[in-house]
Amino acid sequence: MSTEERYPPGPRGLPVVGNTVDLSRDVFAFFEGLREEYGRVASYQVFGTDACMVAHPDAIQRVLLDEHEAFEKGEVLRRNLADAMGEGLFVTGGDQWRNQRTQVQPAFYRDRLNTYVPAMRATAEGTVEQWRDGMVVDVNDRMTATSMDVLGRTLFGVDVTENPVVSEASDAILARFDTSRFWSFLPDRLPTPTNRRYRRELGELRTFVDELAHQRREQQPENRGDDLLSILVEFVDASDLTREEFRDNMVTFLFAGHETTGLGLTYTLLCLAQHPDEQAELRAEVDSVREGPVTADDLPELERMENAIDEALRLYPPVYMFFREATRDVELQGYDVPAGTTLVLPQWAVHRDPMWWDDPEAFRPDRFAGNTDRPEYAYFPFGGGPRHCIGMRFARMEMKTVLATILGEYTFELASDPDPDLIASTNLKPGEAIEIELHERDDTDEATL
Ligand code: HEM
Repeated sequence: MSTEERYPPGPRGLPVVGNTVDLSRDVFAFFEGLREEYGRVASYQVFGTDACMVAHPDAIQRVLLDEHEAFEKGEVLRRNLADAMGEGLFVTGGDQWRNQRTQVQPAFYRDRLNTYVPAMRATAEGTVEQWRDGMVVDVNDRMTATSMDVLGRTLFGVDVTENPVVSEASDAILARFDTSRFWSFLPDRLPTPTNRRYRRELGELRTFVDELAHQRREQQPENRGDDLLSILVEFVDASDLTREEFRDNMVTFLFAGHETTGLGLTYTLLCLAQHPDEQAELRAEVDSVREGPVTADDLPELERMENAIDEALRLYPPVYMFFREATRDVELQGYDVPAGTTLVLPQWAVHRDPMWWDDPEAFRPDRFAGNTDRPEYAYFPFGGGPRHCIGMRFARMEMKTVLATILGEYTFELASDPDPDLIASTNLKPGEAIEIELHERDDTDEATL
């Protein structure tokens, strides 16, 4: 084959816009269609940029793990996120990234994470205390607020419910990068309403995080604790982190950690509301494991719950695709991919590929029980390799704690569309409210005795 023939196959798009129209109409169908028609490594074009979908687990593993040094986050991402978090962990590369990852890692060690569980539980209890028998709850709304609250309390020592600036800024940033809207392709500098709001809120958020750092410095060292905020402040004071790196990391963690986890919880509740038997099994597991409110020691024993969360994240991965850029010519699954090509790794299409998943549309947590012969990268809701999600364990602990708290108090059934519209926004968001109707448990006393 000539080099031309070894370029990944793909649809011929329109001049200039390429496949942008199809892509923005339905991202999910686009990638699944590409996979079916052209295979698991396939090419397409967006606004004149050559892009390549990488949807084969072996190729994904090479990009994220085996040859990760040949793939960067890429120019588009760097440019788009430069203002908000260009100097933070999510965007930086090379030694700067390695340095930051090593610095913040201690906030995510298992022992440290265990100490966050009481705050996670208290937050979940605060949410559930507002609920009543027979009430219908908008799950995404409640779970997003809960995970924002958890993040604030555990990593930064702030009560975000008293500081609306954080959630307002976060909404504005997420709206700015809402890839389902055409304006996310427009330059930041254009004075569109979304951009203006974004700039204003980002400015306020920066003032707020600087103020947090200031307050932390005012505290006696022995009272400062060792949460993420203290770790970052210490590195700034030791001149191992610049002020820009500090701010951008504060924004990064607020941005990367809350909507994703809120969505993970939302979709797990959606699945459990539709599968009362599975819900009952999980409730029984929670009751058998805990003595009173759930603790850090209980969480590893909630294996069935872990499988249910994994399965919900398979069907509804909050991060449904992400990008890399090849820094040199590479070969993937027998195709030549030239340096500079934008690679898309679509969890959505891989997690629902019948090649690796029997009856892929079905919610079957047992798939994750025991060993399987599935390739490892057929499932990657948290990415993979050295740049895998640093908050993965944090998110899993939070999801288990919140679910255990809810299951301890209520049974619930779905009160909205069982197949809700989904929006390919910055994250995979429901396009309509996902609602559950609550029924207070009448067997709780027996169960907790
Ligand atoms: C269900 C919840 C979550 C999901 C599905 C998720 C997903 C991901 C994915 C797919 C990546 C890799 C992106 C890439 O390689 O380009 C990532 C990276 C990252 N995540 Fe998460 N995440 C979640 C929760 C969290 C939480 C709770 C935090 C922080 C408290 C967090 C912080 C980060 C950061 C800082 C990175 C960049 C890491 C690096 O490049 O070194 N995430 N996440």
